[in-house]
Amino acid sequence: MEIKLVKSAGFCFGVERAIDLAVESSKKYNNKKIFTIGHIIHNNDVVNYLEKRQVEAITPEEAVNIKDSVVILRSHGVEKELLETVKKNNNIIVDAICPYVKKIHKYVDKLKNENYFVIIVGDKGHPEVNAIYSFSDKDNSIIIADEKDHEFIKIFEKKIKKIGIVAQTTQEFDNFEKICKRLLPLKIELRIFNTICDATSKRQKESIEVAKESDIMIVIGGKHSANTKRLKEICEKIQPDTYHIENEKELEKKWFDNKKTVGITAGASTPSTIIDNVLKAIKNQNFHSKII
Ligand code: F3S
Repeated sequence: MEIKLVKSAGFCFGVERAIDLAVESSKKYNNKKIFTIGHIIHNNDVVNYLEKRQVEAITPEEAVNIKDSVVILRSHGVEKELLETVKKNNNIIVDAICPYVKKIHKYVDKLKNENYFVIIVGDKGHPEVNAIYSFSDKDNSIIIADEKDHEFIKIFEKKIKKIGIVAQTTQEFDNFEKICKRLLPLKIELRIFNTICDATSKRQKESIEVAKESDIMIVIGGKHSANTKRLKEICEKIQPDTYHIENEKELEKKWFDNKKTVGITAGASTPSTIIDNVLKAIKNQNFHSKII
């Protein structure tokens, strides 16, 4: 069986930076309590590793009451109001927000100040999207998943003079492009910020290429990771035999029956050790198969 690994599979720059900052903080502030608002990345192994180093993940609701501690802001970003509260509570802030995500906050803030109606293309309820939305004027902005979103359709009934558009960093380019194109007939001022992260689009493109050449595609990453879920959707369009797993223990022998080429990709929050373990398990045909 031939195995093709997507070159850019695994940690992106923003995730690597966030983990490094968390590890550094655990060494530097060993006399203080250290928290991250939400999991630093969508990966249980990394979260457990940090917990052992006294870095504890808390919910945004819990973060409101944290005082005199160290608070690490994860790569996805934090809602503006929450950040202000955490700062007021005499906490040391370790800013691990990805610079590409921060750029989106700046664009949205600017668009709000210039009275643009803001469209955020992203997954409703995702922490990154919630944080982006918090920088907008909520009466003058919407979050939409795609062009069929009913909130989006309503825009065409309103008399909007100018629209600014940004995307969640992990969005699929085609989806973003379709939305922008649908707005062109409005003949109003449009400011489009293509804020899809290069690391994401590169990984998506490379995964498509590998999926085209493979009989089965394995996508490795956290089940809650937006960019991994997106990778699975993209690969599945090309190769219906696509499976999303968190680690090698989920591989099933029957998936590989009569398959000659296996494609492997991984989300931005997947450590290389997990990718290596999956590669080894496939190479050695060492599966923890479920008996059916
Ligand atoms: Fe940042 Fe892109 Fe990673 S936005 S967190 S470098 S996927």
